[in-house]
Amino acid sequence: MQIFNLNGKKQFGKSLRSDFLIAEDYTPMNHGSYGTYPVQVRAGFREYQDLAERSIDTWFKRGFYPVIHRAKEKLGELIHCDADELVFVTNTTFGINSIARSLQFAPGDKILMLSTIYDAMGSTLEYLRDSRVDVEIITVDPVYPLSDDDLVNMIEDAILKEESKTGVTGGKIKMALIDAITSVPGVRVPWERIVKLLRDHNILSLIDGAHAIGQIPLNLREADPDFFVTNCHKWLFTVRGSAIIYVPKRNQYMVHPATISSSYRNHPDKNDKSSTFQAEFNWHGTQDHSGYLSVFAALEYREALGGEEKIQEYCYKLARDGGDKVAKILGTEVMENKEKTLTVQMVNVRLPIKAHDGDGHYLDRFIDDGVYKYKCFVPVYKHHGTWYARLSSQIYLDESDFETAGHSLKSICDDLEKERPKGKK
Ligand SMILES: Cc1ncc(COP(=O)(O)O)c(C=O)c1O
Repeated sequence: MQIFNLNGKKQFGKSLRSDFLIAEDYTPMNHGSYGTYPVQVRAGFREYQDLAERSIDTWFKRGFYPVIHRAKEKLGELIHCDADELVFVTNTTFGINSIARSLQFAPGDKILMLSTIYDAMGSTLEYLRDSRVDVEIITVDPVYPLSDDDLVNMIEDAILKEESKTGVTGGKIKMALIDAITSVPGVRVPWERIVKLLRDHNILSLIDGAHAIGQIPLNLREADPDFFVTNCHKWLFTVRGSAIIYVPKRNQYMVHPATISSSYRNHPDKNDKSSTFQAEFNWHGTQDHSGYLSVFAALEYREALGGEEKIQEYCYKLARDGGDKVAKILGTEVMENKEKTLTVQMVNVRLPIKAHDGDGHYLDRFIDDGVYKYKCFVPVYKHHGTWYARLSSQIYLDESDFETAGHSLKSICDDLEKERPKGKK
């Protein structure tokens, strides 16, 4: 399928901006929140919408199934797993909900999470705790910057503590929900090492990889998590509303979509091989699947740019170099550990503002001034009493965009410091 032509070679950086619909006067430094996609992908997406509408019965009764399977095969080649271990869902929130709410918890079971969990996932775990049997949540609280070893050790210590209390392997922790890359701070987590640690302690690993596919290389067969969910609409350039869940065959009997539909079957016996996993997720109510199928055009586009390695190489370097530029403008530093494993395609820079009790309105101020005044929004957050900005790197950006972002952040910080009530430290 030749759906676009990249007009020969294009350079990474500003010259690629014309492939995207981003307004010319806007500096887009927040790819991590919602993603965006090139016009070539929009064309691929609309092609599937048109195909479906031309003969909706043919599409839903017959055409759709082999095409969706081919899309999973393509993704399986990229992240190293079988197509049958993947299902599409609209987003990571739906995917994590489907898995977490499918699992059967017994009274006294525990769930382990990090305090840096994405807020929607934290709410999902709270819902489990409040609505199911008595499930306890154990929270590990990392303070960044932190080495990978330190994070893994903190998690291991928490498990060992529970084991010593209960005298059983895993200390009654049934499942741990861990990010592959956290949202804030936007840092890579050594999730592969954590999966191994959890496995050694008989704990199910549910990995929130919302930011993973397209941002870091993934080999799911090798890492072997129990469950992995990732958004294609963030870093892979598909149309929004497109994510995948990976569940190895051994665990498929446990999982159902958060929306139950006609293909639902209970599989109480884990040796029961008649999995309805694919059927249940392929159809959980009428929807437009074209967003999922935009994955073909997204992969083709990325291939035409030189492939995943080239894209990642450019974006990693830009995040590091751009982050240094922003830190210099702000007179602060990048959040990074000695081993330099935290920064991938998002970089976190400390803001030169003091945290205090009355700084709750700062978030709104960064949104309003960023979006309307400077036309360059950068998400900011407070981590253990220190304010940081998270800047996303991307193929359509170069260092001058980071400089623009650095100057707008500096102006907002200066204004906030001037306005800070006297006496507030
Ligand atoms: C770590 C993490 N998990 C989950 C999500 C939720 O993704 P979605 O809104 O696509 O469900 C996000 C969104 O930014 C995220 O950063």
